[in-house]
Amino acid sequence: MSTHIGAAPGDIAPVVLMPGDPLRARWIAETFLDDVACYSEVRGMYGYTGTWRGHHVSVQGSGMGQPSCAIYATELIREYDVQTIVRVGSCGALTERLGIRDLVIASGACTDSSMNRITFEGLDYAPVADFGLLRDAAAAAPEAHVGLVFSSDSFYASRPELATRMVDHGVLAVEMEAAALYTIAARHGRRALAVCTVSDHVVTGEETTAHEREQTFGRMVEVALTAALG
Ligand code: HPA
Repeated sequence: MSTHIGAAPGDIAPVVLMPGDPLRARWIAETFLDDVACYSEVRGMYGYTGTWRGHHVSVQGSGMGQPSCAIYATELIREYDVQTIVRVGSCGALTERLGIRDLVIASGACTDSSMNRITFEGLDYAPVADFGLLRDAAAAAPEAHVGLVFSSDSFYASRPELATRMVDHGVLAVEMEAAALYTIAARHGRRALAVCTVSDHVVTGEETTAHEREQTFGRMVEVALTAALG
């Protein structure tokens, strides 16, 4: 096992779907996969492996925020030789061009995190999605918005007006993981993508119900599986 994942070598498939919420990982595995086995319960951050249309695939919770996501992405890649990670998560819409429940496919991720600032010693690095995954997800979901997200370290922002500046430069939505995931995948020469559903609207104040989140989550999982394996 690795430091935070209790799996034996070979327990985890080369393709991993990564929701923030470990209970979503269980729901995805039970709803979409066949022959499912749970490979890790460490810290309650569940991981499952099963098959989808005959392909092996795993689902691993990442927790919330870039430090937590970075731990799981790094160990999946370094310790279990994972090749492809697709985040499936929620995001907050920052512009009225987006509606509640819409799908956002993140072509790139801006961030206020210090993780890359430390890595690149103040230079600005542009974390981007794997092009093939991005192309295939966009083809699988013509209804989706494809563009930039803002990966913020703060759900409760101390200066929410700063997000407006992001919107003025084309950013669609705010979430908390994609920039770290894209950077770590690039560092190791692996593929990554983030597909998100708008769970709340920062401009209009609308929110989805738990039932709606479950339904829209299903569409996002289909798109992610199709892009990674279809
Ligand atoms: N902010 C950050 N992350 C999020 C949000 C948000 O408003 N909604 C869903 N994930």
